[in-house]
Parts: sequence; structure tokens; C-alpha cells
Amino acid sequence: MSKAAPADKQSNSQIPIVIKGLCKDFGENKVLRDFSLKLNKEENLVVLGRSGSGKSVLIKCIIGLLKPDSGKIIVFGNNVGLLTHHELDMLRTQVGFLFQSNALYDSMTVRENLEFPLRRHWFELSQQEVDDMVMEALNNVNLGHTADMMPAELSGGMAKRIALARTMILRPKIILYDEPTTGLDPVTAREIEHLILQLHIKYKTSSIIISHDMNCVKNTADRVVLLLNGKCYTEGTFEELKNSEDENVRQFFE
Ligand SMILES: Nc1ncnc2c1ncn2[C@@H]1O[C@H](COP(=O)(O)OP(=O)(O)O)[C@@H](O)[C@H]1O
Ligand SMILES: [Mg+2]
Repeated sequence: MSKAAPADKQSNSQIPIVIKGLCKDFGENKVLRDFSLKLNKEENLVVLGRSGSGKSVLIKCIIGLLKPDSGKIIVFGNNVGLLTHHELDMLRTQVGFLFQSNALYDSMTVRENLEFPLRRHWFELSQQEVDDMVMEALNNVNLGHTADMMPAELSGGMAKRIALARTMILRPKIILYDEPTTGLDPVTAREIEHLILQLHIKYKTSSIIISHDMNCVKNTADRVVLLLNGKCYTEGTFEELKNSEDENVRQFFE
């Protein structure tokens, strides 16, 4: 890796994510303006913000899908902006990303969807190892029986769980969740939150959870950062923010 040892040699000792002074514009639309954040090891950090505030842009910058205009994103000691295409690909095996849309491949079965990242990144695995990992991933989300189903046959909650299983299959040390409960009914949303916490404990992951679902924030966050006007406006525990008298914070609890 540029200016650093390979990410896998560092990940146990380093802070998962440090973001400093991140700026991202789309023409006149200044979305992120000097945004800074630190994700601590084994922390579930929620980034709370209104629709259109730049939450998805933030996580796309972290995984290198969008290029910031300025600022630094350091993941396990690696400056994402300085990585080559190949290095970025390697880093993405350690940083799982759960898309809001799930992004399952419609023409592939559930099993094939889960095999896809394994075949792409870990091509030395035997068929038996691939099968075992797929089953473990499916069992982690209590959907062992769906391996031969097509995505179109899954309910919204099941599709989210399969997408989560696929995200987890490479055992990433960091997971970025983009609105994991948006669009789900309350019961299913609570199931997804429960899974997020279970997988966090089982695999000792560090996570950024993007949300404006206050139940999701309450149930998952160790700490909450409020993204407002492109900046980290304030941060604290859910209870601290809930008790805030600041108008800009209060509006999320009303
Ligand atoms: N690829 C893009 N090109 C132009 N504008 C974009 C792009 N992606 C996001 N934006 C704009 O950036 C702002 C923040 O978007 P987004 O991060 O998706 O919001 P949210 O907080 O709801 O996830 C919005 O005004 C959106 O229109
Ligand atoms: Mg979004």
C-alpha cells in the first residue's frame, strides 16, 4: 500500500477510519464541507442526517466510489486517496458496504450472489470451502433454506438479510450500512437491527450506520454523529442527543 504496510498487517492495531476535513461538491451543491469523523475499533457509530444531507456521498467517498475534492480519509492507516486501483480493491475486502438498495444480482440465485465476492477475491478456495462459507453466511442471517431462491422471490426483509450475508462473507473488519432499515416495516426493521448487533458481537466489526430512523439509531448506536450543513454538527450518545436543547438536534426527536 502507498506509504504504509499492507492493510491486513495493520488492521488489528490501527483506528478503523479517520476522516479529516472532507469536502465534496457537485457543482454549486456543496454537500460535504470540512467533515471530520473518527470510527473507533469495535464501535457502532451512527451518522444521522436528513435526506439529502450527504450521508450516502460520505460512505461512497470512504470506499472510493466517489473522489473527494479535498480532505483525507484514512482506513486502517491507508490514505484512500493515494491507493492504486488494485490496492483499493484489496481494501474493499476489509470494508463491507451494505447498499440501501441491497444491490443483489437479479439473474443469480442467492447462493451465486454469495459466492460472487468469494470467487472474485479469494480464488484459491476449494468448492467445499466456498460451500461452507456460503452456508455459514446464510445461517448467520437465519436464511439457510434460501440458497436456491432468486432475489425476486425474497421479501424486502429477506433481501436485506441476504445482502447483509453477502457483505459479511469476506469477513470485513469494517461495515458501512446505508440506511439498513429504511423502507422496511417496523418488525422487520427491528430484526435487521438485531442481526447488525449479533454480527457485530460475533465478528468484532466496527461499523458506520447511516440512518434517519430514530429507532434504528437508538437500538444500534454506541455513539451518534449529526451530519448537518456538510459538517459534523455535534456528537454524543443517543441519550445525550435526545436530551439536547439545541433546535437542530431536537428536530430529529420530534
Ligand atoms: N453523483 C452525484 N451527482 C450529483 N449530485 C449528487 C450525486 N450524488 C449525490 N448528489 C447530491 O448530493 C446531495 C447528497 O446526496 P446523498 O448523499 O445521496 O444524500 P443522503 O443524505 O440522503 O444519503 C444531494 O443533494 C444529491 O442530489
Ligand atoms: Mg442516502
